[in-house]
Amino acid sequence: MAAARGQFGSRLGFILAAAGSAVGLGNIWGFPTQAASNGGAAFVLVYLVLAFLLAYPVLMAELLLGRHAHGNAVIALTRISEGPITKALGASTGLVGIVVASLILSFYAIVAGWMLGFTAAYPLSALGMQTSADWLTTFAIPRNLALMAIFMLMTIGIILGGVHNGIERWSTRLMPSLIITMLALGAYVLTLDGAMEGLAVYLLPDFSKVLSGDLVLAALGSAFFSLSLGVGTMLIYGSYLSDDEHLPSIGVQVALIDVGLAVLAGFLILPAMYVAAARGVEIFDASGALLSEDTLIFTVLPALFATLGTVGSLVATAFFGLMSIAALTSSISMLEVPVAFLVERFNWSRRRAASFAGLAIGCLSAVVVVNFNQLFGLVVSLSTRYGQPLLGVMLCIYAGWVWHRDSLLQELKKNDPDADQGWFWRIWPFYVRLVCPVIIVIIFARSIG
Ligand code: PHE
Repeated sequence: MAAARGQFGSRLGFILAAAGSAVGLGNIWGFPTQAASNGGAAFVLVYLVLAFLLAYPVLMAELLLGRHAHGNAVIALTRISEGPITKALGASTGLVGIVVASLILSFYAIVAGWMLGFTAAYPLSALGMQTSADWLTTFAIPRNLALMAIFMLMTIGIILGGVHNGIERWSTRLMPSLIITMLALGAYVLTLDGAMEGLAVYLLPDFSKVLSGDLVLAALGSAFFSLSLGVGTMLIYGSYLSDDEHLPSIGVQVALIDVGLAVLAGFLILPAMYVAAARGVEIFDASGALLSEDTLIFTVLPALFATLGTVGSLVATAFFGLMSIAALTSSISMLEVPVAFLVERFNWSRRRAASFAGLAIGCLSAVVVVNFNQLFGLVVSLSTRYGQPLLGVMLCIYAGWVWHRDSLLQELKKNDPDADQGWFWRIWPFYVRLVCPVIIVIIFARSIG
């Protein structure tokens, strides 16, 4: 079966796919407002440092484990284990990762469906089909179900194509369009009245806020979600990489693109919010904080687009198209986690695995849609607040303590004979053994406390 395993065709293809997984709704609807409310450029700096000191080592643990095994997380974690208990625990960690990745996809597909709906609504409304446009943008069970199903079908469609013809091909198409659209929208918004005020709020550093412990912890949490860590997405992408690639530097590039696009999103979102404010749209909540997340995306920005006339429809279509693309390159990486497992564990064809997993997660998502108020928040926090950090700790323990140092060094030496002399080998093992697990546990304890 090893011969039939998919592989990325080029380094750039891998980097765009992994960055595509990382850059998602989290970057655009969370990061900019979080930065603005928490010290602007000072927050950006702290985020950057934390992303590299803490999230990057975990990303590397996933990439290295995956490439070492050339298999899914269950295979990877059992292969490096020696005793029966470590093996069983490794297999369970891999399985829980699959469940958590599926849970994340089940809520992500709902939100991504809304993005699709808004993308289509503006052109429809311009064509005079206002009733359809309203249907697509109004919260209701049938609309949520239909759009989620369409988004899931798109995700399944790409995954059916496999690693090279599906994931890599679509990531190399979609990621450049995402970057170009974001740059173009940002450049346009910066020309409007009020934009500079937003830019100032984003960029003027206020170090007094940054020193608060809570903030550092919040930044850490979002860096973790943003780099898609814990659930085995990066692990499985790493497993499709050739042994010739130098993983430490590839990991740096992926992390840089993720952080870079989050920062870039700030140049679009914050000026846009202050342009909206200059046009009479409310951008602060009752407590004086900037409106964020769903209110920002589905209320504040549409209110701004409405004031821009015909250009507004174009800008809106481009913006929601951008959000849909960001979501799609992330959702394929989530679906690949269960699909790779089904293919490798049960010898299923990719077609069967992708249809089955996609359908099963679609059904789960439908249950969440129908019981939105009870389930949506629960699934989000179960998977991202509890699942991801706990799995992250397990991955650190396996990469740092269970994995034999010689075998790990050999993995690094595959394409770098002097790996034992390099910076990575000097710093990373210590980080992943001690620093990362301790810090993640602290974040976790505080976030549930
Ligand atoms: N990184 C994605 C985002 O920022 C979310 C994600 C989490 C993707 C976990 C895959 C796995 O939106």
